[in-house]
Amino acid sequence: MESSLPTPHLIQKSAGILKSGGLVAFPTETVYGLGSDALNELAVSRIYAAKRRPNNHPLIVHISSAEKMFIWSNRIPSYAKDLANIFWPGPMTLILPRSDIAKNFITGGQDSVGLRVPNHKVALELLSCFESEGGLGVAAPSANKFGAVSPTTADSVLQEIGECLSESDIILDGGQCEIGLESTIIDCTAQIPTILRPGAITYEKLSKVVKFEFEPLPGSNRIRTSGTLKSHYSPKVKVALNCMPKPGDGLVALNNIATPAGVIRLIAPRTTQEFARNLYLAFRSGDQQCVRRIVVILPNSGTFHEAIKDRVIKAAGLGAE
Ligand code: TXA
Ligand code: MG
Repeated sequence: MESSLPTPHLIQKSAGILKSGGLVAFPTETVYGLGSDALNELAVSRIYAAKRRPNNHPLIVHISSAEKMFIWSNRIPSYAKDLANIFWPGPMTLILPRSDIAKNFITGGQDSVGLRVPNHKVALELLSCFESEGGLGVAAPSANKFGAVSPTTADSVLQEIGECLSESDIILDGGQCEIGLESTIIDCTAQIPTILRPGAITYEKLSKVVKFEFEPLPGSNRIRTSGTLKSHYSPKVKVALNCMPKPGDGLVALNNIATPAGVIRLIAPRTTQEFARNLYLAFRSGDQQCVRRIVVILPNSGTFHEAIKDRVIKAAGLGAE
């Protein structure tokens, strides 16, 4: 398998690989995705196998522009059109009633489909090339093993799933992802939208455009989102929240928090944006250095604090079921 800088030639070649049923890991502004042709059941099944993901967990279909959403959904509420027009390309996934082309092997058997237009030059070029070869969408979950930390660099993709890729698959190396946390997921199947997974497109930004139900209905399991499982986004070592780190622990905290003696500082970001961008690399580094635990001191304000809190709580195994 090739892991290389994405020249126009390589992107074109990658689109051909997708079209012929291969897998292409590619950078987006959030995290790296592991892509396949969303219409090819065999290719999609290779994603599930590589990730060891249960096959009732739906995949996001990536498309090159908002107009393409009408291919995958034939009942789009007007608020969803507004969201798409304002925030795409961008770190936002819309869950919409599916059309006939969104098969069970993409939707996990649900009547909805997840759609996203990523805001990354390489991803957009790949999607455009793929579509000009007759493709309709690229199914791509984060390119990590199920339940593990999403990759934010091509090296992390290689560590996570390299052994499961074949010679003809490709990892496009677009450097470190700008945002570093997965997209905001919005359920657009009801009259009022609901945020299922917080991300860089925050509730504050969204609620300027539409009225929102912020939390899913209590006890609702209408929608299966693997990111809503209690334990997810987890490094191998234990993650502890907002407690005093002890010698041998790794520490993830804003740079105004000092590192106690004997503690291994994993990152010291200046802003929540920098915190988000480097969080998963810090988790990986904690694993590699075999720290005793990773202690995370959560920021309690700043643009990315909700999304950071969501991922860290799940990494610590403390999420709601
Ligand atoms: O930022 C992102 O969203 C990245 C990049 C690669 O685009 N993708 C990503 O995919 O995070 P994944 O599969 O790791 O997480 C997507 C989440 C999953 O928890 C999945 O269950 C949920 O979206 N999802 C996808 N389609 C859905 C649907 N039809 N209904 C409910 N949840 C859905
Ligand atoms: Mg994921």
